[in-house]
Amino acid sequence: MYKISTKVSEFQLKSLPDIAEKLVLVREYNEMTDKEAVEKVERLCDEFGSSKGNPSLITDLMGDPISRVRQSPLYGMLVAEFGEEKEIVGMIMASVKTVTMGKKTMNNELPTYVKVAYILGLRVLPSHRRLRLGTMLVQKLEEWCMQRGAEYAYMATECSNKASIDLFTLKCAYLKFRTPTILVHPVHAHKKPIGSKIAIVRLTPQIAESVYRHIFINSEFFPKDIDTLLSNKLNLGTFMAIPKKYLSKWDPKKGSESNFPPSFAILSVWNTKDVFKFQVKGISRLTYAGCAASRVADKWMPWLKIPSIPDLFNPFGFYFLYGLHMEGKGGPLLMKSLCSFAHNMAKEDKGCEAIVAEVGKWDPVREGIPHWRKFSWSEDIWCMKKLGTLKREDDDQENVVNDWCISPPSSSVIFVDPRDF
Ligand SMILES: CC(C)(COP(=O)(O)OP(=O)(O)OC[C@H]1O[C@@H](n2cnc3c(N)ncnc32)[C@H](O)[C@@H]1OP(=O)(O)O)[C@@H](O)C(=O)NCCC(=O)NCCS
Repeated sequence: MYKISTKVSEFQLKSLPDIAEKLVLVREYNEMTDKEAVEKVERLCDEFGSSKGNPSLITDLMGDPISRVRQSPLYGMLVAEFGEEKEIVGMIMASVKTVTMGKKTMNNELPTYVKVAYILGLRVLPSHRRLRLGTMLVQKLEEWCMQRGAEYAYMATECSNKASIDLFTLKCAYLKFRTPTILVHPVHAHKKPIGSKIAIVRLTPQIAESVYRHIFINSEFFPKDIDTLLSNKLNLGTFMAIPKKYLSKWDPKKGSESNFPPSFAILSVWNTKDVFKFQVKGISRLTYAGCAASRVADKWMPWLKIPSIPDLFNPFGFYFLYGLHMEGKGGPLLMKSLCSFAHNMAKEDKGCEAIVAEVGKWDPVREGIPHWRKFSWSEDIWCMKKLGTLKREDDDQENVVNDWCISPPSSSVIFVDPRDF
């Protein structure tokens, strides 16, 4: 078998990708036989990433490599087998679903839906990188998605992940599309207060669906199957905050049929804790000790409301807040109270150490979401491609006009599906 040396000559470096392509087979993941090998690739990629001296975030897939897409209506994983030994050296996943494009059709008021693939979990073993394996995996996955009717594919990555951004934009014709913000708040040992003039109402999945279809229909990425999302066992509920004085005037059972109070906020809580966990690695002992001390103090003296840092250094779960929207003058305060309510739910759930939300960069709701700046990402880069596009220069005029990838957002709101986080 051809062995890849880390000390290859200039000549060998140039020819490696061609040799690699001949030695690689990309095929569908087999849950019965590939689980261990795929977990090993994930672990080695994590170890390599965290050995560079900076704190890094490791994902624990809890024994199910495909768990992150399993809740989607259609999903799949491909693996790259290398050489005669058929060693699994890379993998990639996708989920396919129908979402809004953010604009209504010309003739009527119906939203424009499109089938999209969300690409995630691309990994190549550190020993096999720069051999075009990553590119091959993306290309094969795109074919897989097109066969299932997807018209667009998109992916998300941190703005600092140059390897990933270059691979998708320079080699696979993706365009930088949107840059939403990820907002993170730690779960403290003390409860957060909710204003005495604010009522929190739990909506049934049916009412939540009607309210969401009314609110988000002009936003981008609102899923057509919102009903399945809201009735999923990982969905812990949809909650609305309204001023208490409107409790008697608004009938939550009527949903969007009834007049909304002039100010309100709404969000849903998704329990990612049962699907995968995160772990922060690579912090100094001093930081670790400081965080542990803050937790102890907060636990014993909750009345002091110490902004303690939870245990993020062992695998931890989090709640993902989605479908966040607010209206009226009181909106930001009501949203803040709703987030406090979600924080208090997380506090009661052992091992749930953070609450996370992802919203459009210019979405006004951002103002109402409490978060810690040092834990948050100001720019999560989403890159998108109209499937079937090989090179951008080849686009004809008709393609350009119909291409969602190059159209400016018709709304500042992006619906971030918790199944894609
Ligand atoms: C990103 C990753 C999958 C790339 O895999 P790979 O097999 O090395 O990628 P390829 O050989 O197909 O590279 C294609 C292009 O991507 C870019 N690229 C890949 N690695 C790069 C790096 N370390 N720095 C800069 N550009 C890089 C280059 O443009 C490269 O083309 P070139 O080799 O002709 O210069 C791999 O580095 C990896 O597993 N990283 C850790 C996990 C991760 O970040 N995944 C992406 C999550 S979205």
